[in-house]
Amino acid sequence: MQRQKIDGIKSKFFRDIADSQDEKSLYAVKVKYIGRSGQLTKILKSLKDFSSEKRKMIGPLANQARREFKEAYEKRQKALGEQIDWEEERIDVTIPGKKAEIGSLHPITLVYQEVEKIFSSMGFEIAEGPELETDWYNFTSLNFPFDHPARDMQDTFWVKSTKEKLVLRTHTSPVQVRYMEKRKPPFQIIVPGRVFRNEATDAAHEHTLNQFEALVVGDDVNVGHFKYIAKQFFSAFFEKEVDIRLRPSYFPFTEPSFEFDISCTVCNGKKCPSCKNAGWLEIGGAGMVNQNVFVAAGYPRNKHQGFAWGFGIERLAMMKYKIDDIRWFESGNLRFICQF
Ligand code: FA5
Repeated sequence: MQRQKIDGIKSKFFRDIADSQDEKSLYAVKVKYIGRSGQLTKILKSLKDFSSEKRKMIGPLANQARREFKEAYEKRQKALGEQIDWEEERIDVTIPGKKAEIGSLHPITLVYQEVEKIFSSMGFEIAEGPELETDWYNFTSLNFPFDHPARDMQDTFWVKSTKEKLVLRTHTSPVQVRYMEKRKPPFQIIVPGRVFRNEATDAAHEHTLNQFEALVVGDDVNVGHFKYIAKQFFSAFFEKEVDIRLRPSYFPFTEPSFEFDISCTVCNGKKCPSCKNAGWLEIGGAGMVNQNVFVAAGYPRNKHQGFAWGFGIERLAMMKYKIDDIRWFESGNLRFICQF
């Protein structure tokens, strides 16, 4: 009777041991059979109540079963332990984690944002226009005569079109006339945007670039206002006091026209390799709006005065972030872009 019982317990024990898949279920098997009130423990405890003859027969069997249980238990524990170690290795929290790739803003976007922030704080409105322009807005309304060499000033991508001559805008100035057709002075706007030039690229020139235009029109706006606004803007942008210098120049849409420079942001005008020992950095073009442009926009001649300027966002970004080649911006090189 007792012998069969022990055999039954043994076979169930070995099945349960084999079924246990982790430390917890293995421990439950141990408790079930050889714990304080486990099935085999109960038999061992009851040996004292047996006749000496029966005890001599059952005792060794029960003790042998106990040894086998212990042995099987330890073997299984070791096997599970190895498996658990292996699993723990797969989620080893001490292994350096994979770095999450966090995107960053393109330096040109950063400059756009900064420019828009500064001008907005000075009460400027932001205006936009199309990248695919008509000849009228890009050239003719801006006082470029049809056969005037001035049209060659900006190498142009012409676009085949059934209706009228279209052009990838070569500057942001066409938005001047587009805006003035709809609004009456006084106003002050900036026009950020992408422009295109059909020219060979080098460290300072791209075929696709970003400009921004500023246009301030009222009844008595003058060059002094331009100089003041420009100084305020560049000083805020470069976070240091910057001086402005004007040089005579020519643009069909402004009269008088000038190129303007800012004092070198590296040496503060003291002359250094960054400014090629000039103390000044060339920034963009500007001038008083030509009355012909006001007329093209539908304003009466000689009633209003205004100034306009335009310059390259890339040039500004290169100066701010000390980038030596404009071609980095369109390169799509993540090692470059992710530094910002
Ligand atoms: C113009 O585009 C005029 N529309 C600017 C203007 C506006 C003058 C209003 C007067 C009144 P310009 O071609 O010089 O001018 O270009 C202005 C600026 O754009 C340059 O100073 C330079 O910073 C940038 N730029 C022009 N061409 C390129 C190019 N290929 N690559 C990089 N930057 C360029």
